[in-house]
Amino acid sequence: MIETVYSRAWLRCLRADLPDSLTSPEEVAKCELASFLGKGCFEIKADGSSSEEYSIKESNGFYTISGGKAGVLYGAYTLIFALETGAALPNGSVKPYYPLRMLNSWDNMEGSWERGYAGRSLWFDIGEFCYSEKRIRFLGRMLASAGINVLVINTVNVHYPAQELIRDKLSGLARFAALLRPFNVRLMVSVDFAMPLAAGLTTADPLDKEVIDWWRERARCVWSAVPDLAGFMVKADSEHRPGPNEYNRTHAEGANMLARAIAPYGGKLVWRAFVYNCLQDWRDTATDRANAAYDLYMPLDGAFDENVILQIKHGPFDFQVREPLSPLLLGLKHTYKALEVQLAQEYTGQQIDIYAMPPMWQEIFAQMDAESVSAVSAVSNLGNSEFWTGHPFALLNLYAFGRFAVNPYAEPRAVISEWAFLSCGMDDESTAKLTDLLLASRSVYEKYASQLGLGWMVTPNSHYGVNPWGYEFQSWGTYNRADRNAVGVDRTDSGTGYTSQYPDELRRLYENKASCPDKLLLFFHRLPYDYMMRDGRTLIQRIYDDHFEGCEAAEAMKPVLSSLPLPEPVKEAALRFIEEQIKNAREWRDVINTFFHRLSGIPDARGRRIYD
Ligand code: GCU
Repeated sequence: MIETVYSRAWLRCLRADLPDSLTSPEEVAKCELASFLGKGCFEIKADGSSSEEYSIKESNGFYTISGGKAGVLYGAYTLIFALETGAALPNGSVKPYYPLRMLNSWDNMEGSWERGYAGRSLWFDIGEFCYSEKRIRFLGRMLASAGINVLVINTVNVHYPAQELIRDKLSGLARFAALLRPFNVRLMVSVDFAMPLAAGLTTADPLDKEVIDWWRERARCVWSAVPDLAGFMVKADSEHRPGPNEYNRTHAEGANMLARAIAPYGGKLVWRAFVYNCLQDWRDTATDRANAAYDLYMPLDGAFDENVILQIKHGPFDFQVREPLSPLLLGLKHTYKALEVQLAQEYTGQQIDIYAMPPMWQEIFAQMDAESVSAVSAVSNLGNSEFWTGHPFALLNLYAFGRFAVNPYAEPRAVISEWAFLSCGMDDESTAKLTDLLLASRSVYEKYASQLGLGWMVTPNSHYGVNPWGYEFQSWGTYNRADRNAVGVDRTDSGTGYTSQYPDELRRLYENKASCPDKLLLFFHRLPYDYMMRDGRTLIQRIYDDHFEGCEAAEAMKPVLSSLPLPEPVKEAALRFIEEQIKNAREWRDVINTFFHRLSGIPDARGRRIYD
């Protein structure tokens, strides 16, 4: 039973297995349609190009899908899901919005998984490739049916033996790539900037001729093993990873050197912009980690080669429950950019608490021109656990990410409801109830775990569970500066100056506490506990109220879940996880309320119980 749910995910309406013999997206498309519609009900006209574009025509119940080789596969899934859910077929020719729709797996080669909350790696173990082909093929179907076309297979923190992926493990890489190719999924590999040192050179200086030649030769070998490899991903000069700064070179010099090595093969060099000083002195109130990426990369705008993509996390920090949009996404005009989001719920419940991300992505895309980035990238939440993601509802985030990558103007309710129906197959009323619960889940979590833009009140390292001062006296630049009078960091012109990184309109919005959205108030401002909020409550009262309300809302999810005719074992798992979520929510409520009560000495105006 578990294997059935595990393997089918939202592809419940399709047969569980595809034949091993399929080698192209066109063949997969035919096979999926034949099993769903029956032979003789459709025709596929692939034009031989590699285009991802397709069109679907219907005439008297006969369907014709035309398009490029990859396009017809997307067309097939679109048709199947539309027929299954009753949605309208697309008009005319359509193609995915972003050409690169990347899933970043933070897998370690010994089989563990950095920030992984759903078991172990699906393809690595004890330093080697190790997988069930059947499972990987199913993964390919899941990715293709969601619209994802690049899989980065190893974590951005590249240590031995993952360095060997581009040296000794090339045949394994080639076999793995071949398994996913029929699903139009190309691989990408994270590489270590200092790899020439591991290979015996005396330097990894990007301007050194030997280093340049070494990378060129590596690229030649890698692309001769996997000719359609999508590229390399690099985390450099970040959290103790090596990078060009060690050689007094800029990030443009470092990235361009690698980009030139892989350019002849059409490879993209994805360079992560997650760079800041992780050795900050907490006593230093003038330095603000939020400023770091913009300060580093804005002067380099236009200096990167054509095949470099700067991958930028959606907020200036690190996947907190709520952050403003990274000003770098708005500021860079002459650099190709990828938006990075995190499906793995590192700070958002670790795939125990329910946290559906589509509302967040809608906000992100509403704040920037969708076309200002040329790619989207998501840190994966998949592992070998039951349901792929631990909590069965966490799988929604993978599906929905694909939907937003294909169409950044997607509507959260529609995407969630589509996923709920495809995955659970309930009646309309129950699907609507589950959709409402999932749609609200982010704000429920936010209320008890991180309201008003306060982040980082988590247990250090694990990042799970409440700990209001866990990061306060550490070196990571992650402070709330709560004392007996006030809380929050002043990031305005009179504070750390972070607001000045935004275009004028946003700068003004955030600069002024009267106009700054409540949800980001303590991200941008340091305020006394008796500060009067727009809704007439004091700041401290709002803190108390939100925590009580968030916890009540988490408790209220349980009867809803119990009442739904979810298929087993999804229901059993959902009821098991909600118990844990409720326990967490109570802990968050009591710890945070007690923390601020002790600091401020101000009682709850409504006389509810706060522990002292
Ligand atoms: C976070 C995360 C790390 C990860 C890093 C990154 O800090 O906790 O595990 O390596 O992000 O995005 O590089």
